[in-house]
Amino acid sequence: MHRTMTWSERLFKTELKNLASNVARLSTLLTRERESLPAAYLKDAGLRKAYIEYFLPSNLYKIHIPLKELSLHPKGLFKKDKLRILDIGSGPGTATLGALDFFSIKEKRPILEFTAVDPVAENLRDAEALFKDRGPKEATLTTLKSGIERIEAHIKGSFDIIILSNLLNEVAHNDAERIHKRVEILKGLINRFLSFDGSCIIIEPALRETSREMLMVRDGLLDEGLHIYSPCLTGDKCPALDNPKDWCHEDVPWEPPAIVKEVDQLTGLRKDSLKFSYLILREDDLSLADICGEDSYRVVSEPLISKGKMEFYVCGKEGRRLIARLDKDKTNLNGTFDDLRRGDVVRLKGVVDTRKRLKVGKDSSISLEKFLDKSPQERY
Ligand SMILES: C[S@@+](CC[C@H](N)C(=O)[O-])C[C@H]1O[C@@H](n2cnc3c(N)ncnc32)[C@H](O)[C@@H]1O
Repeated sequence: MHRTMTWSERLFKTELKNLASNVARLSTLLTRERESLPAAYLKDAGLRKAYIEYFLPSNLYKIHIPLKELSLHPKGLFKKDKLRILDIGSGPGTATLGALDFFSIKEKRPILEFTAVDPVAENLRDAEALFKDRGPKEATLTTLKSGIERIEAHIKGSFDIIILSNLLNEVAHNDAERIHKRVEILKGLINRFLSFDGSCIIIEPALRETSREMLMVRDGLLDEGLHIYSPCLTGDKCPALDNPKDWCHEDVPWEPPAIVKEVDQLTGLRKDSLKFSYLILREDDLSLADICGEDSYRVVSEPLISKGKMEFYVCGKEGRRLIARLDKDKTNLNGTFDDLRRGDVVRLKGVVDTRKRLKVGKDSSISLEKFLDKSPQERY
């Protein structure tokens, strides 16, 4: 026999349906209809709720990956009494909350002084409320209503970390000169506000167009004398830009909260992993390659499996290369090849370079940089 729904169950169902329809609307605006994205789209209360309930929970953890990679450097980049963090295009404070969470598990954590900047006042109010709920006593948040183009007049001092999370693609987004403009804005921002040993972290959606544009900005900033700490293990021009079909992104397993799963069921969207592109820029030449070695490669594709062989694209100092192992050549020495995942960093020994591809033979060894293990399930 069917039980009739209680009043609160009916209310929940109606709210969930509203939420799902706003998530679908926002998702379309941020993907297929990006060109018509209104400037202050998050002024719309329904879209803002959709952002907080659906996009914030996953976006929040993306900042953990670059922060972890920075924290591993032997120079102890975060070993300070206080860190000043500037979160531009903060929305509801997503990256601020993510950074707060990242440092909360550290044994000795610095005092964290956040400044969140966004042109939409409602976003800043949400950021303040969410921060108040989660922020420990030793962390502070200051908010500033402004676009990235005009913050110079309002902000003082320098920052150890500057974050642009899902903002870059919205800056000058319909402007034919947008790559040049973004390079100029970032160059000015870094010159003016990044401390001499600071890091600027850019996170972008894993869409081909937005990710490639970020890589173009990357190359523009290299020309301006900036350095890439990670994910690239080389300071050369980005080889993914050679082929218009290529782009570079992370894909970290993630267990979504129940509300995200329910919205996915209603909308047909899928948020079962953390997909994003990122970049860490610095004025000095410190690099993740200082830890894993210049001969390491970053895995930049899914496994490509065909009859009798497995291949990946990897990226390192020799550019973007195809690496292949025939099934018949699988041994204990190269067994790790089966477990490689996009974003992993590997060291290769005894691999044969046939120019067309790197060939893993029976005697080749493949070792994974364990210290970079993202072990998402344990934290996320
Ligand atoms: C997709 S949301 C990202 C929010 C948050 N950083 C995150 O990763 O979840 C983009 C944010 O950038 C803000 N924004 C758009 N154009 C901007 C600009 N020119 N300067 C600063 N922020 C801007 C929007 O108001 C919005 O809050």
